[in-house]
Amino acid sequence: MKLKNKVGIITGATSGMGKGIAQAFVKEGANLVLSGRNLDRGKELEKNLKGSIFIAGDISKPETNEQLVKETIKKYGKLDFISLNAGTLGMGNVVDLPISEWNLTLETNLSSIFYMAKYALPYLLKNDNGSILINASIAAFKSFPNHPAYCASKAASIALMKQMAVEYAPKIRINAMCPGPVDTPLLWDSAKAFTNPGKAIEDAKNATLLQRLGSPNDIAKLALFLISEDSSWITGSAFTIDGGIMNA
Ligand SMILES: NC(=O)c1ccc[n+]([C@@H]2O[C@H](COP(=O)([O-])OP(=O)(O)OC[C@H]3O[C@@H](n4cnc5c(N)ncnc54)[C@H](OP(=O)(O)O)[C@@H]3O)[C@@H](O)[C@H]2O)c1
Repeated sequence: MKLKNKVGIITGATSGMGKGIAQAFVKEGANLVLSGRNLDRGKELEKNLKGSIFIAGDISKPETNEQLVKETIKKYGKLDFISLNAGTLGMGNVVDLPISEWNLTLETNLSSIFYMAKYALPYLLKNDNGSILINASIAAFKSFPNHPAYCASKAASIALMKQMAVEYAPKIRINAMCPGPVDTPLLWDSAKAFTNPGKAIEDAKNATLLQRLGSPNDIAKLALFLISEDSSWITGSAFTIDGGIMNA
């Protein structure tokens, strides 16, 4: 029980990796506040994850982040960690991408990290061993066609992670994960940037050294390591978890 008596917020909990992380963390004894917009999926998750509550809201808005922190303190009286997974793609090349989509992608993938950290840090700083984990992407280092806002937001999220790690050490540890292709709805949406999405996913799988897509559970194992005390000497680091695709 690596997270026994720990309280955390998980964004992007209604699907994919955030959901996998929430399931893994509850098994390790955590009490969670789960975030997402989809009420049905959120309520279903809340029902299945003992000791958790779901709060629906748009994470690109500062007030949603503030509410998540306030409700956590109201319900559990403390906050030990935040795991930030909410993400959107904003697809289209620079000429075609509407400015509104550019802004929304930056607000969802990057500004939400700033908002959540802004409201959560005063509480995280009250406990020992506070931890923040950002779900970035290999898109921070490698470019993909039709993903300008996505790539820019992910690279900037790592810069923000590193800046905060300097500012809030030694009390708080702050790290990022950079997944490669993980089998979630977002990956399939992302493949629509290619003329043959099914082939694009197959190509991505074949491009990994380990010859398979990642699963939310693969990512949850790294998330557990980085949030828990097992990684007590790690901060300001971005971990690639990609089946070897960046080294292929
Ligand atoms: N899948 C991959 O191959 C891959 C690779 C590298 C990095 N990533 C990153 O991993 C993270 C998780 O992605 P995933 O693949 O697990 O995708 P996913 O299954 O599509 O899940 C995305 C999650 O983000 C939430 N979300 C999106 N916009 C939101 C908003 N405005 N307000 C609140 N919640 C919002 C969604 O909740 P609702 O639908 O309920 O709003 C959902 O829970 C993302 O940051 C993504 O960029 C993914």
